[in-house]
Amino acid sequence: MTDTEVFDLYSPAIDADPFPHYTRLREEAPAYWSERDKHWILSRYDDVAAAAQDWETFSSTAGNLVDEIPGRAGATLGSTDPPRHDRLRALAQAAFLKKNVEYLLEPIQEVADRALERILAKGAFEFVTEYSSEITVTILLRMMGLPAQDPKEIRRKVVLSISTDKSVRGRNQEQIDAFRWLARFLDEEVTRRRTAPADDLITRLAEAEIDGERLSDREIVMTSATFVMAGIESLSSFMNMLLLNLHDHPEQRRRLVLDPALMPQAIEESLRFNTSAQRFKRTAAREKVLHGRTIRPGDTVILAYGSANRDGRKFADSDHYDIDRKPVGHLGFGGGKHFCLGSQMARFVTDVAMRRFLVRIPEFRLTTGKLDWISSSNFRSPVALPLEVV
Ligand code: HEM
Repeated sequence: MTDTEVFDLYSPAIDADPFPHYTRLREEAPAYWSERDKHWILSRYDDVAAAAQDWETFSSTAGNLVDEIPGRAGATLGSTDPPRHDRLRALAQAAFLKKNVEYLLEPIQEVADRALERILAKGAFEFVTEYSSEITVTILLRMMGLPAQDPKEIRRKVVLSISTDKSVRGRNQEQIDAFRWLARFLDEEVTRRRTAPADDLITRLAEAEIDGERLSDREIVMTSATFVMAGIESLSSFMNMLLLNLHDHPEQRRRLVLDPALMPQAIEESLRFNTSAQRFKRTAAREKVLHGRTIRPGDTVILAYGSANRDGRKFADSDHYDIDRKPVGHLGFGGGKHFCLGSQMARFVTDVAMRRFLVRIPEFRLTTGKLDWISSSNFRSPVALPLEVV
């Protein structure tokens, strides 16, 4: 693959199935420079894992989204470097530890059971709106202490906020406005906490100090917005991908139905096999030579986690989904300083929600042969999963 050939992050073909394209990158151009888009893409496991660890060379301060949202860089965990990053992370991380999210067990089961009653009464349903995002929106708003919103509308805004538009090769106005709506909604909540503190994460951020200084309103709003976007969208997208894997591999699904204790293994293998968080951005802070090519300070570098996880040098028979694999070291949650803050929460919620689902609906079938995919330079998720109970 040459520099003038395009690995096009805005191509519907790549949204639908990036994996054959990743294979070409790994084999033919492991340090690939896109002459048109002016960025590098790293695709082999060893390179991506090393770059994720090496924040001094591969900085996040210009943002970690391929098309960064205006106003976000420098104000969130994913877009700061140490030492500020580490202090901000220390403030937030306790809230997302498994022991501190276990109180969500009953609420998740309640939302899941209500959704499953409705689904079973109909027989045919759409998994994304009627199950995965119904659960993640309700749980996330509750965890953040945010007023209950119409799950469909808040998810619509979040999906728009993480989406990019092929025709403008970046974000269009509607997508930017959706993020602004989210930021305004959170800003009002921060203002309310200033006069009426509550026992929740937003209050904790509003009252926190780093080196004797309060966080700015922009930092609180942007950090909270990341939690809302990841907690709703990354998490429901991940459940969608897991569901799809279990649909496509019925023999492995049936083993899970008989032995639900295998769910954590299925989750890890899905994080490796086709996670929702495919690619994140870094900016070179110093020169780095890789595979005979020179990455210069200021260059944009994309870490293709989704490709690294399919690298046969690291994972044998890497294009095969296998819940017995135990893929230690997968990069489904990234790596290094920016390793996903919500990983324990994400595993916990998915485990509870998907066990519940399989108990009630062990056999299901997609009712379409062609899926539409969210348009995004970072993430991968089906827009809808129309299913019928078999
Ligand atoms: C299964 C669902 C999820 C997946 C696949 C996922 C994936 C990732 C990945 C790959 C990164 C690394 C980004 C980078 O390298 O720049 C990341 C970072 C992050 N994730 Fe997640 N995530 C998920 C769920 C969540 C949830 C539920 C939350 C919180 C509500 C969350 C919050 C964050 C934050 C705050 C960061 C930045 C951490 C830092 O920079 O220190 N994620 N996530």
